[in-house]
Amino acid sequence: MTKAIILSGGWGTRLRPLTCTIPKTLIPVVNKPVIERQILLLKSAGINEIILAVSVMSDILRNYFGNGEKLGLNIHYTDEENPLGTAGAIKLAEDFLKDDNFFMLNGDVILNFNFKEMIKAHEHYKGKGLIASKVLDDPSRYGVLIVNEEDNKILKFLEKSEYIPPNGKSIPMPINAGVYLLDPEIFQYIDPRKKVSIEREVFPILAREEKLYHYSIPGIWKDIGKPEELLEGNILLMNDLLKNQKEIKENLIDENLDIEGKTTIYPPVTIGENVVIRKNCKIGPNVIIGDNVYIGTNTEIKEALIYNEAYISENVKCEKTIIADSCLLRDGVQLIGNNNNLVILSSFVEVLDNVKLIAPSTSSLTVCHHDVVRLDVS
Ligand code: GTP
Repeated sequence: MTKAIILSGGWGTRLRPLTCTIPKTLIPVVNKPVIERQILLLKSAGINEIILAVSVMSDILRNYFGNGEKLGLNIHYTDEENPLGTAGAIKLAEDFLKDDNFFMLNGDVILNFNFKEMIKAHEHYKGKGLIASKVLDDPSRYGVLIVNEEDNKILKFLEKSEYIPPNGKSIPMPINAGVYLLDPEIFQYIDPRKKVSIEREVFPILAREEKLYHYSIPGIWKDIGKPEELLEGNILLMNDLLKNQKEIKENLIDENLDIEGKTTIYPPVTIGENVVIRKNCKIGPNVIIGDNVYIGTNTEIKEALIYNEAYISENVKCEKTIIADSCLLRDGVQLIGNNNNLVILSSFVEVLDNVKLIAPSTSSLTVCHHDVVRLDVS
């Protein structure tokens, strides 16, 4: 029986300060943790035994998922005192995974495809590993796969920085999408005594031995490594869910939404449960609002993620913003990001009346959890 292991023990440094209070894989995408969406996809492909390889903030993950009963499957854990690297993490689970092929997933990628198709492809190629791939116009930030297009064999596995585009010009290439179907023989390639990266130290060898194939995943794919990718990934998934009507709630807006007159919603927008929006607001496009959120009159929000329990007062303006749970924005606050530079509030931040936070053109503007912001920043 195919099992799965999901890596969920990294520090998530690039997503700080959001990852100062929760593990990266528990960050919501369209109002559900990214890793929970993966678990549900695995479940719908008949995979009911899942290991979470945890380390950083492991208690929070254990409390959230428990033994998996609530999701209707079995969840087990391996806990690394310090992160052991991607291969070290799965080596700890060898006893559990050694009897059959198993899925290995980076717990921070957004996807929406049928894992059963990947199992079929692996049975067909009969390699020692099948790597999910996605063709990206700019592959430079990812591991790149040099493949034989005739038989889908991976000829070379190049980690980030190792790929040099011909003539220095970026061309579309298949990248490592962070989802693998592996034969237990893989464990022979992992030294249990040290921190090992499966991408840097195991896959290149398997590629040289001609034992690796790739599977081009259908549908959406995005890793949420950086804040702007988290925002883009949410919008991508929201559009995909709307297109495929996989969510039960019509237009992803809770049917009990308490909304006052003259407020306009510009789709696509997702709104969770128990949300109140007062009059004369403009919400959207590309806004995702969690549960128990209050939005006061004359407020304008576009391209933003607003997590649970946020209280947003009157005359507030938010654009290119991520507001983590339980933040309080007082009257007249403005949070304005631009291009890839967002304004990011970690949880329990309070922004006082009329304060303007404008992201610079070179980096995101971030506020640590529990801070009170009293002065403008631009
Ligand atoms: P950055 O610090 O921003 O690079 O993020 P990260 O620590 O999450 O690293 P990365 O994006 O490379 O990780 C991809 C996936 O692997 C994420 O789901 C991580 O939680 C997970 N991961 C990374 N390193 C380890 C590790 O040493 N042990 C375990 N169990 N998981 C890991």
